[in-house]
Amino acid sequence: MKIYRDINELRSNLKSSSTIAFVPTMGNLHAGHLALVKQAQQQADHVVVSIFVNRLQFLPHEDFDRYPRTFEEDCSVLSGLNVNTLFAPDEKILFPTQQDFLLALPPVADTLEGEFRPGFFRGVATIVLKLFNIIQPDIAIFGKKDYQQLHIVREMVKQLNIPVEVLAGETVRTADGLALSSRNRYLNTSQRTEACYLYQALLHTKQKIISGQKNFSELQQQATTWLENRGWKVDYLRIHNRLSFMPAQTDDQDLILLGAAWLDKTRLIDNLEI
Ligand code: PAJ
Repeated sequence: MKIYRDINELRSNLKSSSTIAFVPTMGNLHAGHLALVKQAQQQADHVVVSIFVNRLQFLPHEDFDRYPRTFEEDCSVLSGLNVNTLFAPDEKILFPTQQDFLLALPPVADTLEGEFRPGFFRGVATIVLKLFNIIQPDIAIFGKKDYQQLHIVREMVKQLNIPVEVLAGETVRTADGLALSSRNRYLNTSQRTEACYLYQALLHTKQKIISGQKNFSELQQQATTWLENRGWKVDYLRIHNRLSFMPAQTDDQDLILLGAAWLDKTRLIDNLEI
């Protein structure tokens, strides 16, 4: 595996590749990231993974400084998987001057995650666009774990005519259902035991919808109260249309349940398609 920090060196290495599949990450890799890498390897003859903890997508009070950085371990798992190229730039490489060109995003970016983390998707979209411009991949793979992020990247690619095919990877979970996330390592033992109940709340709600219940606001409230009674602080637990990403109407078919909630100081997100 070749590791690049510099854009020009990376570019000359990629020149001879016929098809490139790209997996952007912030590092601290787990089996969810690795599943995306394996999917990428099935799609293209050259796989590029990036590791960059993107300051633009963290609010001032968020965990940018303590976000887990495990570069050596990440390199050894990626080279064990025979990844061709790792792009791991310093901040000075991606932001040689202040990044004050930022994308303006559609209203969907101000809902759900965007409502609770204002500016988050602008930071994500800006860095993803920069990485697409640097790497110029044919294919890019994003996880359904961050479903709204996937939706926004897809819309960006469509509306800005970016020549990249965006593919989705399924969410990888532990045996008890917790979606793998770099932030899971903030959980202590009892919180880790509790953490799978966010997914349980989504599963129960899905069952109710499948069995014909259609009062979505009541279902959202029931799941929220259920989690709150277990000690969670719920940012949102909502039922949306997964194509438009607007709040679901009674007769919508393609639904997505999305939740974000806190266990003490750790914020977890999850979602489930119906
Ligand atoms: P990060 O949280 O490191 O995630 C990188 C990719 O891995 C994303 O596409 C995410 O959806 C996917 N992923 C995370 N957990 C997963 C799981 N349990 N199963 C499947 N896929 C999973 O998402 C980001 O970084 C950043 O916002 C980024 C796109 C790199 C831009 O900075």
